[in-house]
Parts: sequence; structure tokens; C-alpha cells
Amino acid sequence: MAKQVFEKFRGSEITDDILEGAAKLFNEHYGVWGKDPSNSNPTPKPGSHVKLSKSRLRDQYLPNNAYDCCYVRVTLDDRLAGNAFACRWRWQNKVVCWVTQLVVHADFREQGLARHLLEFLREDGDAVFGIMSSHPAACLAGARAFTGNISSVSPGFIQAYAQAIMNLSPIIYVRDAKLCGSLFDQKDTSGAISSVDTQFFVDHTEPLEVLKVVRQDRDWPLGELLDGCEFLFMVEVKPRGCLTRPQPF
Ligand SMILES: CC(C)(COP(=O)(O)OP(=O)(O)OC[C@H]1O[C@@H](n2cnc3c(N)ncnc32)[C@H](O)[C@@H]1OP(=O)(O)O)[C@@H](O)C(=O)NCCC(=O)NCCS
Repeated sequence: MAKQVFEKFRGSEITDDILEGAAKLFNEHYGVWGKDPSNSNPTPKPGSHVKLSKSRLRDQYLPNNAYDCCYVRVTLDDRLAGNAFACRWRWQNKVVCWVTQLVVHADFREQGLARHLLEFLREDGDAVFGIMSSHPAACLAGARAFTGNISSVSPGFIQAYAQAIMNLSPIIYVRDAKLCGSLFDQKDTSGAISSVDTQFFVDHTEPLEVLKVVRQDRDWPLGELLDGCEFLFMVEVKPRGCLTRPQPF
């Protein structure tokens, strides 16, 4: 059996070497560019990998003015198999924990690594958890780690507080994301329920396939995934003892 090691780093512990490894994992396994159907946003060549440099990772994911930023990773036999970046900030005297990036190596998916990374990232003071992602599995992993189950999402909480919470984020792309979906606009008939319009035209082929599978056996509370948009998943964190776990076979 492979040796599985989870590690957490913050502040000056997040060295350039660590970011180099994170950038490589992202560049090879995050996803590929799609196309803006309206052609109003110039996007890199469709099908080419979405890429980030280590300096962009530092600038965009580890802002100096954040209350806390951390990086967690899991290695299997010393090989980087998955990682996550998170940023924490305060809202109404509560700690918001927002996952800004979550990537698992394609060879090691569907083995619970994303869920375990987020469980490892979680800290006792976390009161609100959030993620913007086009991948349903990222939202499901967040649900498992912070609230027990995707069905315990409270649309009312997202509707009431998403804007206020995100307005305080030290992460620029979270602060600038435009809420969309029927939770935020009753006239929205697109099928989106809880989404953000980030104009991020990553290819949705895989996330849409996963969404189809997920909807076959459970309620999916966040609605459709539209081009240029991501799901917005946000929950009040449940105490660890109250989380519902998948039943063992
Ligand atoms: C999203 C991602 C991190 C998930 O990683 P993972 O290690 O495969 O996820 P897990 O095995 O922990 O699964 C998490 C949940 O998603 C479900 N899931 C994962 N892959 C699935 C699939 N292909 N089909 C259906 N469900 C799936 C799991 O069953 C689990 O749900 P449950 O606990 O409620 O049963 C991984 O697919 C990835 O890196 N994708 C590319 C990058 C990306 O889109 N990241 C998110 C943006 S920040």
C-alpha cells in the first residue's frame, strides 16, 4: 500500500519549491480551456491546459492582507497526488474558510482524496465554508468535510449572506465574482440556482458528465452549470461530531 502523507503549510512555510509543485499539478491536472460561445472574451486555445505560474499562485491565492492562508497537500509514496489552497477571513466575527483551489491528480481521483484534503484543512474555529467551482465533486467534497452532506445546504443562508461574505474576501476573484442563478434573481430562468459568473471559460465537458451522474442518485441543490460560470457552494460549518458519513458497505 502506498505511503499516504497529509501536510499543512502556512505563511513563510509555503516556499517557492512548494508552489512550483502546486503549479505543476495544476497545469497538468486542473483542466483545459473551453470557448466563450459569445466570442466576447479572448480565451487561450480551446483544449490547451489552463496554466498558472508559481508567482501568480502566490499573488492570487496567498494575499498578505488575509487573516490566514494555508496550503495542504497529500503525497502518495512521496508523489504529489492532490492539494488545496484556502484563505480565511472574518465576517460578523466568524471565521470564513474559503477554498480557492482544489486539484487531485487524474490518476488518483474518486478515492476520497479531495474530501480528506478538505477535512485535513478544516480547523476548529471555521464557521462558514465556501468554494466556487465548476466541478460538482469539489462541492461534494466540501459538503462532506464541512457539513456532512450536500443535501444539508441551506439555500436561504447562501441567498442572504453570500454577497456580504464575498465582499470581504481578500481574494480578488472571489470579491469580484458576480452572483447569478435563481437564488439571487427570481427572474433567472437559466436553470442555474447558486452560481457565480466569473467569465472563466474552462471546458465543462467533464464537470457536466459528473453532474449527470451525481443527479442520478441524489438531489443537486446548486442547479445547472452555465458557460463562464461556476457553482457557488457555501455552508455554515457543522461540528465534527454531527457530520453524517457515507454508510460503509
Ligand atoms: C474536483 C476534484 C478535486 C475531486 O477530487 P476527488 O479526489 O476525485 O474527489 P473525492 O474522491 O474526494 O470525491 C468527492 C465527492 O465527489 C464524488 N465524485 C468524485 N468524482 C466523481 C465522479 N467522476 N462522478 C460522480 N461523483 C464523483 C464522490 O463520490 C464524493 O462524493 P460523496 O462523498 O458525497 O460520495 C478532482 O476531480 C479534480 O481535481 N478536478 C479538476 C480540478 C477541479 O475542477 N477542481 C475544482 C475547482 S477548484
